[in-house]
Amino acid sequence: MDMLQINNLTKKFGKSNVALDNLSLNIRKGEVFGLLGPNGAGKTTLIRLLIGLIKPTSGTAQISYNGEYYDIHRDIMKIRERASMLPQEAEVYENLTARENILYYGQIYGNMTNEEVEKRTEELIDMIGLRGRENDVTKEFSGGMKRKVLVARALVMDPDLVFLDEPTTGIDILGARTVRNVIKKLSKELHKTIILTTHDLSEVGELCDRVGILVKGRLAAVGTPDELEEKFQKAGIEDVFIGLTTGEGVIEEDFLSKGKKQTLFSRILKRR
Ligand SMILES: Nc1ncnc2c1ncn2[C@@H]1O[C@H](COP(=O)(O)OP(=O)(O)O)[C@@H](O)[C@H]1O
Ligand SMILES: [Mg+2]
Repeated sequence: MDMLQINNLTKKFGKSNVALDNLSLNIRKGEVFGLLGPNGAGKTTLIRLLIGLIKPTSGTAQISYNGEYYDIHRDIMKIRERASMLPQEAEVYENLTARENILYYGQIYGNMTNEEVEKRTEELIDMIGLRGRENDVTKEFSGGMKRKVLVARALVMDPDLVFLDEPTTGIDILGARTVRNVIKKLSKELHKTIILTTHDLSEVGELCDRVGILVKGRLAAVGTPDELEEKFQKAGIEDVFIGLTTGEGVIEEDFLSKGKKQTLFSRILKRR
């Protein structure tokens, strides 16, 4: 059964900036879905719409929990009870320890007793791999460690659906790998439905069951990394990408400049 059904969702900012353009997409329960696209493609806008931080210009989306459907127009509080987001720009509270960061979030969330929050915090410290550092103030942490705390914080309310907005952007290679391993664990061991955004092609191949390529608010392609590999190879990766960007070179700049032309999707496959 599909966990998320997005139907003709459009979001305009002002009259002319169409951040999302009539987007329709279904996301299955338990899958890791990667939203791939250059800056400004509409990835964050889609997440904000789904969690009710902004309202669509038109269209709708429903999220299903245990057979009940909840609509983003009517049931946003219900949706938020079971969905959690790690925003792109999230920061830890640097003067709190890792443990306090997680505890605090669970307590303000308000759907659990203090005992439950404490129990979940301890579980998350182990699961995410923060044990041994949990009582250290997070100011001293590396970028990757801080991101782990943020992921743990987003999970303390035990969501069914987790939105991770560029969870590995801006941290070093080792930190990014650590966070990717955490995401794999969330999927494999906790069976969370995860929607993550990235502009890293290799990341979607490693993590995602399916990928949607978003270009200027439109879904240019959806499929498993294998399917996209095949499709893109047939058409020629470069031609497809340039075609998708309608000549303005957004993706060429982001993805195709630094000598990566030949290896884009083969990299995806090799990393899996
Ligand atoms: N609050 C906002 N007000 C005006 N324009 C916005 C706002 N949020 C996003 N946009 C615009 O919507 C488009 C998509 O942005 P965004 O969803 O942040 O892209 P991405 O996350 O893929 O980088 C961009 O043109 C961006 O400038
Ligand atoms: Mg974004």
